[in-house]
Amino acid sequence: MVNINMPEYRISVDQIQPGVFVRLEKTSWFDHPFLFNNFMIKDDEQIALLKKLGITELICIPEKSNVLPLRPTEKRAPVIVKDTELSQDIIDHLWDIKRERTERLREKKKHLAICEERFNACIRTFDTILKGMLGGNGHSVEKTLAFVGNLSEYFLADRESTLHLMNVMDHAESAYSHPMNVAVLSMMVGKEAGLSLEDMTTLGMGALFHDIGKSGIPKKLLKKRGELTKPEQELIAQHSALGAKMLNDIEIFPKAAARIVAHHHERMDGSGLPEHLKGDSIDRLARIVAIADAYDNHCNHPDQTESLTPYLALSFMFGQQKRFFDVEILAMFIRCLGVYPPGTVVQLSNGAIGMVMAVNPKNQLNPSVVLYDSDVPKKEALIVDLADEPDLRVEKSIRLAHLPQEVFEYLSPRTRITYFVDQNM
Ligand SMILES: [Fe+2]
Ligand SMILES: [Fe+2]
Repeated sequence: MVNINMPEYRISVDQIQPGVFVRLEKTSWFDHPFLFNNFMIKDDEQIALLKKLGITELICIPEKSNVLPLRPTEKRAPVIVKDTELSQDIIDHLWDIKRERTERLREKKKHLAICEERFNACIRTFDTILKGMLGGNGHSVEKTLAFVGNLSEYFLADRESTLHLMNVMDHAESAYSHPMNVAVLSMMVGKEAGLSLEDMTTLGMGALFHDIGKSGIPKKLLKKRGELTKPEQELIAQHSALGAKMLNDIEIFPKAAARIVAHHHERMDGSGLPEHLKGDSIDRLARIVAIADAYDNHCNHPDQTESLTPYLALSFMFGQQKRFFDVEILAMFIRCLGVYPPGTVVQLSNGAIGMVMAVNPKNQLNPSVVLYDSDVPKKEALIVDLADEPDLRVEKSIRLAHLPQEVFEYLSPRTRITYFVDQNM
């Protein structure tokens, strides 16, 4: 790489040589056959293609270049490139690849819409069930068991699954998206941990109702912002025991799931609540829910300005909070979410900025990323599957506060980070 402090600058197409990293400017993504607007010049053939496309000027990005462009007065030794007819073949071929990618992108978006619809259906079902449970309707437990049983079977299906970022904007839904999120994340870990169908269902039930005891805590207190007094903290801490009691009072509610609810704020080092249990005395499934719950609370803090990005939430939990959690389960959790979990804004190795949309735990270094490109309308934003792009990788995560306003608005990081799982086709 050349001097990284050098700013970008405009060059003529005659100045480029292999190894120069360029950005196509004044050319819409739709008007050129390359897959990206930013790339490193590979060979002389590519330079000939740029000329053939009528591109006369480009932006050089020294930070990413292996060599600097020629000076305007400098001349390269003449290079032999294939004849123009062959170049046209190459251009046609590039267009074919780009068209195929665009088609795949369309399919992917359709698939994502179906996944989002299924997620919303789950939220609606959960809403009805929860209201029924709180209203003392015994049938609700049966309905929940059937609902969670289906989810468990879905999770355990013998196919690879992908964790997707969902588009939850509706305020009313956000009340249900915390328990749903905790359930989805817990069950994803449950699959990774090799749980049986029965344990998965117990885990799902415990996760969905982990905070049901909050219905017995004054709303005003739950919504209070800022420091809580000691008595207020103690009152809120009672929601685990309160929830477990409510559920144990329902005869057919699985006792093992109520135990998860009782233990979900216990911590491995004994600093948790309400019983200060330590290590193995905490229910194993509750240790899974504790991690998913803490993660969701970090990402979706009631005070938005306090929310952490998914990447920072994981770093925080694996760093400062490691002693609270079962380290083996925490490692599984990170394996499921990837190093850059969906919802993280990242910079790619070609300089592009995007947001991680989905990750396949089997290929977590290569997530799907939706790219910012001011030339492409937001609705048609390009999604790249890094698994398909051997030359591209995630370089770093970017803090939202560091994003230029127009990039922030384009990628519109969600008001809530909500996940759902999709089985790969
Ligand atoms: Fe809780
Ligand atoms: Fe919670």
